[in-house]
Amino acid sequence: MEPVGPERAADLAGLKAATFVETFAADNDPAQVQAHVAREFTAEAVRRTLEDPRCSTWWLLDEGTPVGFLKVNRGEAQTESHLREGLEVEQIYVLASHHGRRLGGRLMETAVATARQEGFPFVWLGVWEHNRRALAVYEHLGFSVIGDHTFLFGDEEQRDLLMRLDL
Ligand SMILES: CC(C)(COP(=O)(O)OP(=O)(O)OC[C@H]1O[C@@H](n2cnc3c(N)ncnc32)[C@H](O)[C@@H]1OP(=O)(O)O)[C@@H](O)C(=O)NCCC(=O)NCCS
Repeated sequence: MEPVGPERAADLAGLKAATFVETFAADNDPAQVQAHVAREFTAEAVRRTLEDPRCSTWWLLDEGTPVGFLKVNRGEAQTESHLREGLEVEQIYVLASHHGRRLGGRLMETAVATARQEGFPFVWLGVWEHNRRALAVYEHLGFSVIGDHTFLFGDEEQRDLLMRLDL
């Protein structure tokens, strides 16, 4: 596990795009998935998040190649204003080729350890209601559903479940 610095923005953008497509392409309009990737995962957009002191990103390397990453947000950088006293796990993604090898678990341990070190009372995240695998993993790791949040993905209304782990 290594922190990712701004100089690796292009490589991280590639990993973000690849894992996003793997996760969501099958159950969503491919054009919307591509539009999201093109907008959110440019090297420049990713570099800005890597320079933001309120955010931290780590990745896992397999023989030097990044295969999974974690992004956490603090304070105003969080995506839900009513949960700002916690630490948000905004992104936790492992390449499908590496699922089920405890890599996601290690990433989540880093998020929880960071939250404890920094004195946050809880960790929270949003997960698409149809992302069954991630939901099952989070429940297994002790998270509970505390609410939901609807948003537009393209022109389709979708729902994230908000989950929280008290520390
Ligand atoms: C969700 C994700 C990060 C989990 O990572 P992973 O490396 O596959 O999971 P791990 O092997 O580390 O498993 C973590 C824990 O969940 C458990 N687990 C794994 N799959 C499970 C399932 N389907 N149901 C219940 N528990 C499960 C594991 O046993 C492990 O628990 P343990 O530490 O007690 O053994 C990964 O599957 C992923 O990247 N998915 C695609 C991207 C995604 O959906 N990201 C989340 C968006 S909100």
